[in-house]
Amino acid sequence: MVVYLNGRFVPREEARISAEDRGFLFADAIYEVVRFGAGRPYRLAQHLDRMRYGLNEIRIPADPSFFPDVASRLLAENGLANGDALVYAQVSRGAAPRYHAFPPEGTPPTIFAYARPTDPLPPPAGGRAILVPDERWGRCDIKTVMLLPNVLASQRAREEGAIEAILVKDGIAWEGTKANLFAFSGGTIRTAPRGPRILPGVTRGAAVEAAAALGFPVEEKPLTVEELLSAEEAFLASTTLWTYSLTEIDGRRIGDGRPGAVASRIREALQTEFAAASTAAGRE
Ligand code: PDD
Repeated sequence: MVVYLNGRFVPREEARISAEDRGFLFADAIYEVVRFGAGRPYRLAQHLDRMRYGLNEIRIPADPSFFPDVASRLLAENGLANGDALVYAQVSRGAAPRYHAFPPEGTPPTIFAYARPTDPLPPPAGGRAILVPDERWGRCDIKTVMLLPNVLASQRAREEGAIEAILVKDGIAWEGTKANLFAFSGGTIRTAPRGPRILPGVTRGAAVEAAAALGFPVEEKPLTVEELLSAEEAFLASTTLWTYSLTEIDGRRIGDGRPGAVASRIREALQTEFAAASTAAGRE
């Protein structure tokens, strides 16, 4: 596997960063995960806008413009230019002796990226989720690598045989540890509004657009735990999963306990958009 690190494409084993990297010492870094089909990205502009937003918000002087060329070369070098793949990219504030405030001006950011095949999708029968207190910081709209609460919640889900943990704060089910959350009730789709409590997922944005195009009203408004548990459908949305139905949450059956039609229609719409983009790539 060939990865990208600070301007060079090197075998994974040879990619080394400083022990003083601020990503390592302080989680002072942001990241993105982009899906590719036949070398063509899904909604790349939205991913790069989010990365630019994150870099600006945490004041790392870097620009995501490196991403398209780096991603293409990673896909080519790793034999992933024809299938479905994910490209991960991370930018940290660079390496410098450990002081909390920013390092001297001119300290180069550390830029790391790799490509890998997508994982197989989980069973079509839908999955179970658990509810876990949301212990994250107050700016969940920034995609930082500071994911310890997500890691711990995700591990709890795994230990309880669940596919995801839904993060709950102030009685609101905000999102999963690595996916946004949707519910469907009484003809309306609900998902938490953009703001500091959730990551504005690219798939979430695509799902909201697809839902509107399919004629479903969408309300972007906080979803209480009670509303979630009594919904007719609940589902996750992310780059890695598309949409994925939750058929049981914290031991409560959702709807009739089977994956719902709304999640599946939205997933088909997103996959159709993605397939059209990847086929267009093949014709170029
Ligand atoms: N996670 N919410 C959180 C907390 C996430 O970490 C993610 C993505 C999402 C969905 O965003 P998108 O649709 O843009 O992928 C929502 C990525 C995939 C990860 O951490 O691997």
